[in-house]
Amino acid sequence: MKLFSVFLCLSSGSLLWLGAARIQGAQNPPATPQVRMAEEVFQNVQVLKGIPADQFLDTMGMFASALLFDCVSCHAQEIISDPKGFSISTPRIQRARQMIVMMNGINRQYFGGQPRVTCFTCHGGGNRPRTEPNLDLQYSEPVDDPYAMAFFPSLYAPPVDEVFARFLQSAGGAGALAGFTSFTAAGTYAGYETEQMEVPVEVYASAPNRMATVARTQAGVNVRVFDGRAGWKLQPDTPEPLLPLTGGNLTGASIEAMVWFPAGIQKAFGQWQVGTAVIGGRDTIAVQGTNPGQPPVRLHFDRESGRLLRLLHWTTTAVGSIPTRIDYADYRAVAGVQMPFQWTRTWTNNQVVIQLKDVRPNVPIDAARFGRP
Ligand code: HEC
Ligand code: HEC
Repeated sequence: MKLFSVFLCLSSGSLLWLGAARIQGAQNPPATPQVRMAEEVFQNVQVLKGIPADQFLDTMGMFASALLFDCVSCHAQEIISDPKGFSISTPRIQRARQMIVMMNGINRQYFGGQPRVTCFTCHGGGNRPRTEPNLDLQYSEPVDDPYAMAFFPSLYAPPVDEVFARFLQSAGGAGALAGFTSFTAAGTYAGYETEQMEVPVEVYASAPNRMATVARTQAGVNVRVFDGRAGWKLQPDTPEPLLPLTGGNLTGASIEAMVWFPAGIQKAFGQWQVGTAVIGGRDTIAVQGTNPGQPPVRLHFDRESGRLLRLLHWTTTAVGSIPTRIDYADYRAVAGVQMPFQWTRTWTNNQVVIQLKDVRPNVPIDAARFGRP
């Protein structure tokens, strides 16, 4: 119940200042796609300096998620009509700044500078961390947390080569996959910024890992693109509409694009571990891939069909790592390949459902589609 109202506020709150954001975006289109730091983009950044603006907004996602707050719980009411209102320091903003300093101090002093304690560690989804133990936690069945980054390989899981072989087979087999190199699609998009109303979306993808999603929301065109190397997001309802993707957002965009042309996924990560998990009542085989110095990615394959049900990846921010989850459904055959026609992308700032209606395989796509919007 509480969660629901938080989300409702988030959605109506952001819709109200759509107008102002659009005008600002139209007047000041960023001149270069180069990465700018938070303090260069925003007016009143005092603590979280020296991080790219996209990752700065991810820290806001961590705050909202860790305290179950929406933006206006900390920020001034002014943000509802004017995104410049984000720079106003409220008592809660001041408190949160102190918390960042405190958290960094704890990590520096007691955990060798590792981000071991985050906002979520203490807050765990509430503004007032509990002090006393919960007897229900102690005396009931432990609940699996499918978003925990810590991965527990299973002794009973099949070898990773076998898991991927089965996945590729269920996706259509090597022959069909090799012949499937691009698609364009039309469908619907629904998220907080559309108040869950379905608006038109176009999806473009090309092997091995290029992808563009273009949603036509009430506030304007909402774009996420990855061209195989660089990526951008254009979100008309945000304080800074066009931002290049950096760090985990970039590697996340890459794996999200690779899912459509999955033959290369196994090789894209140096190390894999295999485990098991129940996702939405279905038994799955989970594989976690890692590359040195990067947060992991995790894929859940349906144990029965071998199909990809879920992708999880994490972005490391200045205040801890945050998850992005994509759940795939509605598999249909396209050019001999099994393709999910529906996916739900969930992260700390939004939850978006994309449903494809019309998919055209193997059509040429202008490279500009995947470039800076
Ligand atoms: C727990 C409180 C909290 C929540 C919730 C929160 N913020 Fe913030 N926000 C802050 C703090 C603290 C700063 C200042 C950071 C600093 O000084 O380094 C800030 C700064 C910002 C800024 C920079 C403003 C400027 O011009 O300097 C933007 C933009 C912003 N937040 C957006 C958001 C959005 C969007 C949301 C909702 C998803 C959100 N915030 C939710 C605490 C919060
Ligand atoms: C070591 C534990 C700990 C960590 C880490 C922590 N907090 Fe807190 N936080 C607390 C406690 C305890 C309170 C006080 C709650 C109370 O007054 O009962 C608090 C209060 C707050 C409040 C005021 C809440 C209100 O209702 O006004 C904000 C805002 C806040 N924290 C934000 C953050 C943010 C943002 C982070 C991450 C950068 C963070 N906290 C990390 C323990 C923590």
